[in-house]
Amino acid sequence: MDNSQYVKWFRNSSPYINAHRGKTFVLMLEGEAIADDNFAHIVQDIALLNSLGVRLVIVHGARPQIDQALSVLDIKSQFHGDLRITDKPALNAVRAAIGIVKSDIEARLSFGLPNTPMHGARIRVVSGNFVTAKPKGVIDGVDFQHTGEVRRIDRQAINQQLDQGNVVLLSSCGYSPSGQMFNLAAEDVATRAAISLAAEKLILMGEGGGLAANNGEVESDSGIISQITADELSHLIDSLEGEYKMHAEASLVAVHAGINRVHMLSHKNDGALLQELFTHKGAGTLISADDYEQLRQANIEDVGGILKLLTPLEEQGILVRRSREILETEIHRFKVIERDGMIIACAALYPYSSDLAELACVAVSGDYRSGERGDRLLKAISKQAKAENKTKLFVLTTRTAHWFMERGFEEADLSALPQERQSLYNFQRNSKIFIKDLTEC
Ligand SMILES: CC(C)(COP(=O)(O)OP(=O)(O)OC[C@H]1O[C@@H](n2cnc3c(N)ncnc32)[C@H](O)[C@@H]1OP(=O)(O)O)[C@@H](O)C(=O)NCCC(=O)NCCS
Repeated sequence: MDNSQYVKWFRNSSPYINAHRGKTFVLMLEGEAIADDNFAHIVQDIALLNSLGVRLVIVHGARPQIDQALSVLDIKSQFHGDLRITDKPALNAVRAAIGIVKSDIEARLSFGLPNTPMHGARIRVVSGNFVTAKPKGVIDGVDFQHTGEVRRIDRQAINQQLDQGNVVLLSSCGYSPSGQMFNLAAEDVATRAAISLAAEKLILMGEGGGLAANNGEVESDSGIISQITADELSHLIDSLEGEYKMHAEASLVAVHAGINRVHMLSHKNDGALLQELFTHKGAGTLISADDYEQLRQANIEDVGGILKLLTPLEEQGILVRRSREILETEIHRFKVIERDGMIIACAALYPYSSDLAELACVAVSGDYRSGERGDRLLKAISKQAKAENKTKLFVLTTRTAHWFMERGFEEADLSALPQERQSLYNFQRNSKIFIKDLTEC
């Protein structure tokens, strides 16, 4: 990467850095991830996220380590369906395996990360009895004994740790109020933690990563479905197996309970976490509720995001410069499209005393062009103009004339504009004027 590419890449990732700061992410790592060579890189990425102000809860599984501990103790695990029955001897193996995995993760996160980009970063990892469990009970006449499920997450205690900048580590086990230990599915702990903490994201890292685009229903360039709605996923779920199915089920539970973004990523893929969180393309599958992209009225919180979107276009002379102060006073005139906490498109409506209104500041972020977002904004602005009894919408443009012409705008003279707008016309800029009759649409 040469310097200019590096600068471009860094600039492109800055909106994501801002969007993620102060947000809670629950990151689930299967036991296999900890044993993988790539885990050293995942640790570096966790340190980076922590230093960027992301509130991180890590949930670890220990399935392969439990299998190994059972085989050392010569215990044959009993299963009913896909679910392990944890009897008393098996519980000892579970306790040993989880203890080893947990201390291994703590040790790796405490290591000063020498010879890495995060050299010198200090991560404080905290674990404790944050998960209350209950027995799974007797299903189909089979007693699952010490196999349990999450009863409660101690949200307050976890939040206190996150407030102090600590990373919280949860294991795939929990304790009942009667002091018994239960073996839990990491997916259950991660999902319940994300829901209880109202996390911004739940990130499920497994061997396979994202969902493969194998049924032709969902478009993909890379062979992985980069985005899917919960509704689409629920139609796919019966065709999935093993880890994919477990992660997909957990994703649906989380999305239906209000977690807006669930990501499925591979722990084998170096940098997958950063790519997914800081690039437009991502590295795995994002599962979201249907409305992962929202067109809505702008509010004062959006001013920063709108400025980021408009500034490069202003620098190129495509849009007229607007200061932060102007944007703040005129924010009620703007509509925005928000995606993943970022403003990716905007447009504004300026009504005049006659039957005319001006469409201004139409902009769609470079990565998201040609997805009909410009059209959606134009429709929303036209609808609002009509609601305000305006019959004509005009726009001033230097380089986008044809886009407006293709959408029913016709070129007009300066005299067609309201008097007060004519006096503000910048002859040096020499913008073309286009008008659309709203009564015809
Ligand atoms: C113009 C703009 C808002 C369109 O947004 P968008 O979401 O990409 O638009 P849509 O998906 O609805 O339309 C895409 C089509 O518009 C075309 N288009 C984009 N910019 C264009 C331009 N300057 N002139 C003519 N056509 C243009 C695209 O080529 C595409 O056409 P195609 O589907 O035939 O390939 C967006 O390109 C943008 O933000 N441009 C920079 C800012 C700007 O010019 N704003 C207008 C200021 S008055």
